[in-house]
Amino acid sequence: MGWLGKILPRRTRFVGIDLGTAEVKMAEIEVGNRDPEVIALRRLTSPPGVEGEMEEDQVVEILKQLSPGVKEVISCLPPEKVVTRILRLPPMSDKEREEAVRPELERVIPAPREEMIIRSLWLEEKPSSQEGRRCLALAAPVSLVYLYHSLFARAGLTLGVLDLPAFALYRLFAQQIQRENVALVDVGARVTQVVITRGPEIVFLRSFSVGGDLFTRLAAEYLGVGLEEAEKAKLEVAATSPEPEEIFRSAVLELGREVKRCLDFCENQEGVKVGRIILSGGGAKLRFLPAFLESMLGVKTSIETPLLHFSFPYDPSFAIALGLALREVVK
Ligand SMILES: Nc1ncnc2c1ncn2[C@@H]1O[C@H](COP(=O)(O)OP(=O)(O)OP(=O)(O)O)[C@@H](O)[C@H]1O
Ligand SMILES: [Mg+2]
Repeated sequence: MGWLGKILPRRTRFVGIDLGTAEVKMAEIEVGNRDPEVIALRRLTSPPGVEGEMEEDQVVEILKQLSPGVKEVISCLPPEKVVTRILRLPPMSDKEREEAVRPELERVIPAPREEMIIRSLWLEEKPSSQEGRRCLALAAPVSLVYLYHSLFARAGLTLGVLDLPAFALYRLFAQQIQRENVALVDVGARVTQVVITRGPEIVFLRSFSVGGDLFTRLAAEYLGVGLEEAEKAKLEVAATSPEPEEIFRSAVLELGREVKRCLDFCENQEGVKVGRIILSGGGAKLRFLPAFLESMLGVKTSIETPLLHFSFPYDPSFAIALGLALREVVK
């Protein structure tokens, strides 16, 4: 913004909105003279089909209800709709990099190239190995990007930035993981997002389709009830059981196996051994999950509170919304 930025009043409030499959979550952060302070967290149940043919009018209504008086927001695309690849490239300009990642992505993207937006960015300051400098290449459907802009516009909101959930997670915990190798694992309803960092750099990201809903489906089958009733039963068990009930064993093992694949990949391919796992997302609130994963994977696992001022207890369901709201604050 240059000189204009110096004369315009500085923005002090930032809003992140995470359109999850289970819930739409909104986080508002205020930046004053001290560290960022969380001043509002709001959530509403998502209409069915946020993951596919969504009920657009209902989403617009929810966005309006969550953000009264707000003008601009930061949101993110669902991880499974964005193709990401981490590549190593020799030294080159940013423009050359944009060209270099295209063929790599076009081999794997599920649609014609004109239907996808392709972007790339460096993940490290300088090459960390002889094979080059690590860069993230990503491709997102143009139609989805337009849809997001139009949903927010219909709710009277400007979508300032459309980010990746992985970056939001990283940003939220960046301050407390500066000198370690950490896996950030956000367990949602349908999707789990994993981000692995080495000090201040992201070295790996992946999402897979195992989340809290799998536990609900298992409970529904076991009890012979509908999903709504099974969800209630699951939450009761989740709040009390220190160990996974037999019915949840296959789901928790599946989740653990997927996380292990990520850890193994990083250790074998990148030489990055993870020393700590930070869990977030609503699905991480199963009481037995941290201890179970810790003993299965042999890595310290917990739900950690981000280094922000909270005037109420931190709820890990809001991790991504909070990380989005920090977009303009944590560089
Ligand atoms: N207290 C709790 N104990 C156990 N599970 C919970 C609890 N609260 C929420 N969940 C589960 O967390 C999941 C929702 O988490 P979250 O809000 O992070 O998902 P989402 O962002 O809407 O979904 P996704 O990221 O997959 O699109 C649901 O499966 C829900 O059952
Ligand atoms: Mg989510």
